[in-house]
Amino acid sequence: MRWLVTGAGGMLGRDVVARLRAVGTADADGGAVVGLTRADLDITDAAAVAKAMADHAPDVVVNCAAYTAVDDAEEHEDAAHAINGEGPRVLAQACAERGGRLLHVSTDYVFAGDGTRPYAEDDPTGPLTAYGRTKLAGEQAVLAALPESGTVVRTAWLYGEHGANFVRTMIRLEGERDTLEVVDDQRGQPTWTADVAEALVALGARPDAHGVFHATSAGEATWCDLAREVFRLLGADPERVRPTTTDKFPRPAPRPAYSVLGHDRWAELGMRPIRPWRDALREAFAVMT
Ligand SMILES: NC(=O)c1ccc[n+]([C@@H]2O[C@H](COP(=O)([O-])OP(=O)(O)OC[C@H]3O[C@@H](n4cnc5c(N)ncnc54)[C@H](OP(=O)(O)O)[C@@H]3O)[C@@H](O)[C@H]2O)c1
Repeated sequence: MRWLVTGAGGMLGRDVVARLRAVGTADADGGAVVGLTRADLDITDAAAVAKAMADHAPDVVVNCAAYTAVDDAEEHEDAAHAINGEGPRVLAQACAERGGRLLHVSTDYVFAGDGTRPYAEDDPTGPLTAYGRTKLAGEQAVLAALPESGTVVRTAWLYGEHGANFVRTMIRLEGERDTLEVVDDQRGQPTWTADVAEALVALGARPDAHGVFHATSAGEATWCDLAREVFRLLGADPERVRPTTTDKFPRPAPRPAYSVLGHDRWAELGMRPIRPWRDALREAFAVMT
């Protein structure tokens, strides 16, 4: 199989390329993995996308490119829409014309985030932020252009080896501060990019896996829970992390209070969803510390 990864310079994109190389998709049957960073391929440029598709002839495209500055998007929704809404539409149309599959990465922010039970894959969406609206537009464009083969993979609360993220910040702050306050009234699923990469590769190998999937860790936590677990893994006293509330940290884009995602579609296909978040974090520490 031939794979093309867009946004390959990002936190998730780098792990997807690494995962594909590690599992040896570039094998005897002529498979290959091509990772294209933003400098290599701007997904909003239809001519450049058409050329990349012709040059690399991928069987599966994994779109990890996105405008991910959630707060900035409130002021720059058009710019965010160009990348998160139009970019996926361009990729999906190119796949529709050539016959390739598209795995498009999306987010829990497509939901309103005020639920009381895990969101199912087909629950009604209702984004509260500009970022969420643009990501929802991307999902809709992919599923409209590729109704039989498009795959939307929603993830959330990502941390990874490459790039800025909450876990890395907590590792740094443990060394710099005696105590710190972390919000304890937002619930989600801390998720390691390496696990999402593995999930994407598994979905790419299953042509029957189309529609919407949720690729987040099992279980749930608050940011305070996550910070305390980081401290525990560092051998530090978790009580140095003090719980606080969201209203103490006002931000341009409102954060969801509850954005836990359900994983039923994996079982429907006989596939394993991602493991519990604490297990993943423990393993991630080997590469992050
Ligand atoms: N991080 C999270 O917690 C989180 C949560 C839920 C969902 N997600 C989703 O997960 C996916 C990966 O996110 P990430 O955390 O890996 O973000 P990231 O590190 O910001 O990576 C996104 C990559 O996309 C590139 N990019 C931006 N505009 C582009 C364009 N027009 N053409 C090609 N590439 C472009 C960026 O390049 P530059 O840096 O050069 O701009 C960057 O390398 C995204 O779909 C995101 O919405 C992330």
